Amino acid sequence: MIGIFDSGVGGLSVFREVRKVLPEESYIYYSDNANCPYGGKSKEFIIDRARKITELLLEKGARIIVVACNTATAVAIKTLREEYPAIRFIGMEPAIKPAAQMTQTGVIGVLATAGTLSSEKYLNHKGKYAAETTIAEHIGEGFVELVESGNTAGHDAERTVAASLLPLLEAGADTIVLGCTHYPFLSETISKVAKERFPERKVTVIDPAPAVAKHLKEVMKEEALLEATPKEAPSVTLLSSGDSTILEQTFQRL
Ligand code: DGL
Repeated sequence: MIGIFDSGVGGLSVFREVRKVLPEESYIYYSDNANCPYGGKSKEFIIDRARKITELLLEKGARIIVVACNTATAVAIKTLREEYPAIRFIGMEPAIKPAAQMTQTGVIGVLATAGTLSSEKYLNHKGKYAAETTIAEHIGEGFVELVESGNTAGHDAERTVAASLLPLLEAGADTIVLGCTHYPFLSETISKVAKERFPERKVTVIDPAPAVAKHLKEVMKEEALLEATPKEAPSVTLLSSGDSTILEQTFQRL
């Protein structure tokens, strides 16, 4: 059983990709929506939540855990790996590398939470590409709230997206990295706003989830976790710390 967690429904954008490459597996997904968003919370708080959720997922039978949240990965994955050395944790990484290879303007834009953008992990990662590429950043202000309320398209969503996206496009970005797992649910709106405001520029939006799914499969092979999976009908269990309505609705839509 694969355990997946996020502060809310965002991690379902990762689950969607994981399930494409590992359709035979059973899953348990935990949405910590009672504590969402994580973006502006303290490091201690996020580590504490990550630890408690890990305990729960292990208790329910998870054999590997996907930290389907950039903020929790940036802040807590190191502690989780130290405290649970027998368990493999697969985390998120903003897709700066492919973006740096892809950009034509030499400017890439990263959208993420405050927690991710200020983390040591992110700053180190970004440092590797800063010499060859200009990296513009912006917090996706209000993005998580839009996704958690199911409002991913329409006038309000476009206005909220534009406020954080336009500074990146104005800085010359032609490649937008989605550094928060909630943001892929706004991909279409992001592309629409970019096309309307910068019609002459070809803007690519990168979601790191397919690369994470591929990596998970490789690690499971390496750890012989694929073979160890019982051949019974795959199941999906959804858990949440708050109201589960939006989690169930988003899951059904996927
Ligand atoms: N989906 C999460 C991330 O990838 C967390 C967003 C939030 O709770 O602020 O960063």
